[in-house]
Amino acid sequence: MDIDVKNKKLSAWISDVAAMCQPDAVYICDGSPKEYAAMMQKLIDSGSATPLKKRPNSYLFRSDPSDVARVEDRTYISTSAKDEAGPTNNWIAPAELKDTMKKLYKGCMKGRTMYVIPFSMGPIGSPISKIGIEISDSPYVVVNMHIMTRVSSKVLDLLGTEGDFIPCLHSVGAPLEKGQQDVQWPCAPIESKFISHFPEENLIWSYGSGYGGNALLGKKCLALRIASAMARREGWMAEHMLVLRLTSPEGRQYHIAAAFPSACGKTNLAMMQPSLKGWKCECIGDDIAWMKIGPDGKLHAINPESGFFGVAPGTSYDTNPMAMDTLKENVIFTNCALTDGGDVWWEGMNDDLPSHLIDWKGRDWTPASKTDAAHANARFTAPASQCPVICKDWENPAGVPIDIFIFGGRRTTVVPLVYEAFSWEHGVFLGATAASETTAANIGAVGNLRRDPFAMKPFCGYNMGDYFSHWFAMGEKLGNAAPRIFYVNWFRKSSDGKFLWPGFSDNSRVLKWMCDRVDGRVGAEPSPIGLMPKPGDLDLSGLALAPDNLRELLSVNTAEWKAEIPDIEAHFATFGSRLPQKLREQLAGLAKRLG
Ligand code: OXD
Ligand code: MN
Repeated sequence: MDIDVKNKKLSAWISDVAAMCQPDAVYICDGSPKEYAAMMQKLIDSGSATPLKKRPNSYLFRSDPSDVARVEDRTYISTSAKDEAGPTNNWIAPAELKDTMKKLYKGCMKGRTMYVIPFSMGPIGSPISKIGIEISDSPYVVVNMHIMTRVSSKVLDLLGTEGDFIPCLHSVGAPLEKGQQDVQWPCAPIESKFISHFPEENLIWSYGSGYGGNALLGKKCLALRIASAMARREGWMAEHMLVLRLTSPEGRQYHIAAAFPSACGKTNLAMMQPSLKGWKCECIGDDIAWMKIGPDGKLHAINPESGFFGVAPGTSYDTNPMAMDTLKENVIFTNCALTDGGDVWWEGMNDDLPSHLIDWKGRDWTPASKTDAAHANARFTAPASQCPVICKDWENPAGVPIDIFIFGGRRTTVVPLVYEAFSWEHGVFLGATAASETTAANIGAVGNLRRDPFAMKPFCGYNMGDYFSHWFAMGEKLGNAAPRIFYVNWFRKSSDGKFLWPGFSDNSRVLKWMCDRVDGRVGAEPSPIGLMPKPGDLDLSGLALAPDNLRELLSVNTAEWKAEIPDIEAHFATFGSRLPQKLREQLAGLAKRLG
């Protein structure tokens, strides 16, 4: 094949992959709007994309029912020694895994075009950015990558002849024989799906899935798994965190980075409109933060992505009006329901239940149907620049200085609305022991409590015991300039199963308390688990919250917390000798304080 690519490593890699995967054609993407339109036209013509009459330049896709979320069970961190991947990752030795995957890749692109997608995570040319090249046989991946990353031929110019990049190989794993009709969503069966990472050589190989983080390799694979391993080596941080700017009525800016597990409200918090008068919130990112220590000694964060790949169900003008306004045009929807008028719909979008829909599986749906119309992990892919509250500094290559870290998750019981860590080391303990009820963002059971340290369990590209040590090391480097650390739980329920806290825009009240703590405007009440708001310090003006609810929201039940200890011990035991001694000391401290 005649491929005109100047970069030597890229040219050799394209030839090798083409020889192995045997596509019918190779196409080098340039990231232009014309290319996007042409690719989308192809997807419409093949029946994969449905244009939406109600939203300009927006399209609906329906995936294969077996390919609807990330597949953590089929995701591998392949390091030469198993211990380097650690207990939270699946591991197969690199030689064996490559051997298995090469057999799958052989001829896997027959009947398809192989797209070469040059992309930058972070602004093109910024010293903090990383260049990746994704090779994929999925035009759906190409259009999504256009939104989620900066795809451009400028990336190839920047690489020149000798520049380095992170190779990301992807195939849906569904070759076509001559004359064979393609399906709407090609993919491979679960047992031959592999989402593989080789962090020692900054390499990603994905096979068999076309969905989200399994296939858009700039996101979880590069910007979290590979980047976290690079960050450890190079002394920075790659985290599963939203980043927002909160501005007080007096004009003081606070930058907040928050780590919650998938589908636990990062996008909602990132775009939240404060219910507190005079406060303003602007979005910098909703999923991933790359952070480096700046010349001022503070941690500076950038959002490496350029779009939002958000969970649609539950998104509404009540819960996230800024996301709804972001979704008016130029959006890709996946696994949402289709209205008769040519719009998308999902559970929780509004109170008017349509009388008829086409559900995410393409079947007729009415309110009498027993199943949801949209899949619980249905997604929107939307350009970040369209968000009405995108911060003017969201693409600033210097990043924004982080004042506050928040950890949290979905906990129906036990965990109070908010508390502050006693110190950085205690904060690392809070991150390391974070637990959450599982969601539909991964294939698997929903609602089970699992420890998800720093919301990174599915995304840490090396031994998580070493990741904990990295957090301690960063704290030492940051010293007094380190962000203050808090823990939140918006999801606590009363014994009759109702949420105790209204959440969403009222979460600004909790953020305000954090800002007051940072600037020393309020004190705090020590409890065995951390520092709690003093009565009256949480600004509840204009909120009709029953006093009993507030009491329950801020209660720390010693017996319930004592019951957490054996579970934390078991969690820590999995890290063996890689568990930092400081975490053992923190656990002993918690047990002692609980009495
Ligand atoms: C995501 C996820 O898609 O965490 O962001 O699953
Ligand atoms: Mn995520």
